[in-house]
Amino acid sequence: MRIPARCRGRKDHMTRKLFVTTALPYANANFHIGHIMEYTQADIWVRFQRMLGQQVHFVCADDAHGAPIMIAAEKVGKTPQQFVADIASGRKAYLDGFHIAFDNWHSTDGVENHQLSQDVYRALRRNELIEIKSVEQFFDPEKQMFLPDRFIKGECPKCGAKDQYGDSCEACGAVYTPTELKQPFSVLTGATPVLKSSEHYFFRLSDTRCITFLEEWTQTPGRLQPEVFNKIKEWFAKDEDGKGGLGDWDISRDAPYFGIEIPDAPGKYFYVWLDAPIGYLASLKNYFDKGAAAANGEPRSFEEFLADDSVEQIHFIGKDITYFHTLFWPAMLHFSGRKTPNHVFVHGFVTVNNGEKMSKSRGNGLDPLKYLGLGLNAEWLRYYLAAKLNGKVEDIEFNADDFTARVNSDLVGKYINIAARAAGFLSKRFDGRLSGDLGVEGRQLLDAMRAQAPLIVELYEEREFGKALRETMALADRVNAYVDQHKPWELAKQEGAEAVLHDVCSVCIEAFRLLTIYLKPVLPALAGKVESFLRIAPLQFADASRALGAHQIGAYEHLMQRVDAKLLDQLFEPPAVEKISPGGEDLAAEIKIDDFTKVDLRIAKIVAAEAVEGSDKLLRLTLDAGEGRLRNVFSGIKTAYAPADLVGKLTLLVANLAPRKMKFGISEGMVLAASHADEKANPGIYLLEPFPGAQPGMRVR
Ligand code: 2FM
Ligand code: ZN
Repeated sequence: MRIPARCRGRKDHMTRKLFVTTALPYANANFHIGHIMEYTQADIWVRFQRMLGQQVHFVCADDAHGAPIMIAAEKVGKTPQQFVADIASGRKAYLDGFHIAFDNWHSTDGVENHQLSQDVYRALRRNELIEIKSVEQFFDPEKQMFLPDRFIKGECPKCGAKDQYGDSCEACGAVYTPTELKQPFSVLTGATPVLKSSEHYFFRLSDTRCITFLEEWTQTPGRLQPEVFNKIKEWFAKDEDGKGGLGDWDISRDAPYFGIEIPDAPGKYFYVWLDAPIGYLASLKNYFDKGAAAANGEPRSFEEFLADDSVEQIHFIGKDITYFHTLFWPAMLHFSGRKTPNHVFVHGFVTVNNGEKMSKSRGNGLDPLKYLGLGLNAEWLRYYLAAKLNGKVEDIEFNADDFTARVNSDLVGKYINIAARAAGFLSKRFDGRLSGDLGVEGRQLLDAMRAQAPLIVELYEEREFGKALRETMALADRVNAYVDQHKPWELAKQEGAEAVLHDVCSVCIEAFRLLTIYLKPVLPALAGKVESFLRIAPLQFADASRALGAHQIGAYEHLMQRVDAKLLDQLFEPPAVEKISPGGEDLAAEIKIDDFTKVDLRIAKIVAAEAVEGSDKLLRLTLDAGEGRLRNVFSGIKTAYAPADLVGKLTLLVANLAPRKMKFGISEGMVLAASHADEKANPGIYLLEPFPGAQPGMRVR
């Protein structure tokens, strides 16, 4: 098969050596659909490269550091290390579940990252690209720490909206610095923050060496997507007054901070975004040092591998972190004497639309683990995401109906069906053996399918997965048209049509094998099942130019179900929130304010109280509700109060309750008291008492 030139890498006929990463997720939460989309995109690309025979090292890690993780850990009474480890232990279920096959998963808190981050920093310092400047910031005097923007709230300086974060206003969209907030307070303690200055370490990105380097680096043809490059040009641009452009980057944070210590700077730590991308290298190093790379055919050390100019370093990331990856990161690498990324592949966000509700925020609305737990097939989602993905920075939308339609009609209806339609006849009539001949028409169809391989390869290479799948499904359409035309189910009944039936079914199986090659990067588990059904070695792209000949295949077993729409409904059912049962009982049915005002509540003074003879529970109260008369009220509070303690107190009376005749006399109303529904398990009755100043007869509303 001829592979397009641009897919062969720099050196023709040589195996490409690829170092591929996805963004390192913060270790403060489980994965959402946005993570799964990014990992799936990268995983498809990596599997595709491997099917071409390229050598790939595909790594990721938890992004462990930063103030938010430190604070979250403290809240639940864990050390940050323990907190991060607990999150990390949950990763495998997602990755295995969605067939995302990283070669290594590490942590930015690993020793390799401490070492590498400090090495990078020292090199930048030697290059005179580190500068210390004094910075004034909000400081929480109670917590004794500088506050990140997100941990300061106050009133928006523009619109006055209350309870807004220190960096931007959710009400009017204004962006500002925390010091502009009115009535600022610390989210951690509620204290009013004070301005305090401290020394910060800056990476001098405004240095002409950096600017010259980055201008050239970002312009290198093929390195970045055109829309990414255009965005970067805006970041470089200065206005008429010479303002704007690349500013120096504050890379330090003061203790207390969960991070990596800055060498020779006691109490100073690297800002999380300094050591996070270095975590890519740390994970790769950890992988090499474990000997796992050698096991994968890479005999060299981590250092030797990265010193090899022909190694291509590739990062898959979301559009929100472009600045870090296309400016800070290459500059850090270059000025510390390292290889810079060959490509940064930027994708958009996933929005989820389950039919009614649309979630705009990155990743809400479709819980990946719930998806797996319901028994929904991971490869349906891989297929659906792939069908939506392209090489541009575009958001993609998950739509439940669209999902069901694509999986059921394309994947199962068009592709799986081809095998299902042919395999039965082959095993029943021909002992599973394919015909060697296939017939003229069949050979033409298969040749046409093979001829599409270079295009499909090129589309995968360009991350145009949607197009690659459309081309593949167009081929499946042709195969189905061929089946409909030759009607094997009728051939099977005709006399003397045995040989034609054999050819038609064999063509179907050969076509199915070709389609499986084209789909394998997206559907690795399914392809594995197909390989065992066909009794063939793991499929590579080069297998597209071969033919099975008179090969004997195994028995067909059902390969993939259709989507059950009911399960998909369940996926989007809101989680069964544990019923809040205040005081042990459910909330009463909702009422309108009119319902409430029907109840006339008054302040009443207890002028006398006595035990009721013959009752374990009741006290007789004499109440003054400011009416110029006294009321007699029986109340079941005997177990809780000695009568003498009540006399002279104020309480609340339901004053318009119809008088009730009781065994001991008439009760003219009811006093209010709180208790748990299960009084046996939670004993205690608490009579209500108004704040001081209330007078008998006042209405409670
Ligand atoms: O945005 C994020 O989720 C970051 N944790 C990504 C870091 S990518 C790399 F630099 F580590
Ligand atoms: Zn505002």
